[in-house]
Amino acid sequence: MDTPETILRLEGVTKVYGSGERAVTALYEVSLQTHAGEVVLVMGPSGSGKTTLLTIAGALLRPTSGTVHVCNTDITRMGENALASIRREKVAFIYQSFNLLEALTALENVSLVTTPGGLNGATPQERAKEVLGTLGLGQRLNSLPKQMSDGEKQRVAIARALAKDPALMLADEPTANLDAKRGHEVMELLRQKALETNKAVVIVSHDHRIRDIADRVVRLEDGRLQAES
Ligand SMILES: Nc1ncnc2c1ncn2[C@@H]1O[C@H](COP(=O)(O)OP(=O)(O)OP(=O)(O)O)[C@@H](O)[C@H]1O
Ligand SMILES: [Mg+2]
Repeated sequence: MDTPETILRLEGVTKVYGSGERAVTALYEVSLQTHAGEVVLVMGPSGSGKTTLLTIAGALLRPTSGTVHVCNTDITRMGENALASIRREKVAFIYQSFNLLEALTALENVSLVTTPGGLNGATPQERAKEVLGTLGLGQRLNSLPKQMSDGEKQRVAIARALAKDPALMLADEPTANLDAKRGHEVMELLRQKALETNKAVVIVSHDHRIRDIADRVVRLEDGRLQAES
């Protein structure tokens, strides 16, 4: 079997916010690799550097030192325009608070970012409809966010991420606004869909209840990454 493609590679990543007496080292020499078809869960207490790690992985923040590769491209010293196209083409984020546009329906929220095409040349709307359907939201296409439950909203956010068809999906505390059962269900769905389409997924969370959906769990403590058994 072919070795799966490495999608994200962080090597010796250190991030220091601020300078002088106020400097905070949020990440210290963190190295992490994920490949296509793998779900990695990064756990750690509040302030341990989880969001910082995800933001660097998603090309939204530069490390102070170390290197970041996304899809075998070194993005560490890329210019802003090139970074913006990495974010547009390779990465999708899923947030704790869903970040849906309140004035738009589920279908509109997803089709807005959907890449047209695929083998059958579907329009963004058709693709968005299809992805929402596979996440069990076929009856919710025309609902506004305020008319949906939190679990449904998070599924719309996952549909939006999947419909963009990125190599790398990054989720920051995606279950924080969901009850335990709903949180687990939604993450299980994310795992299934991501694996079917061969994405690399990094989820950061302190929710122990979703450990079993990950292929690998690593732990951040004060900005240092350690493998977990
Ligand atoms: N923009 C910033 N400027 C200065 N310090 C920051 C900034 N962002 C984060 N920090 C600090 O870096 C450390 C790591 O923060 P980060 O947000 O990555 O933690 P986290 O693990 O995501 O925490 P939480 O679970 O509360 O979301 C913290 O000490 C935080 O105060
Ligand atoms: Mg955070």
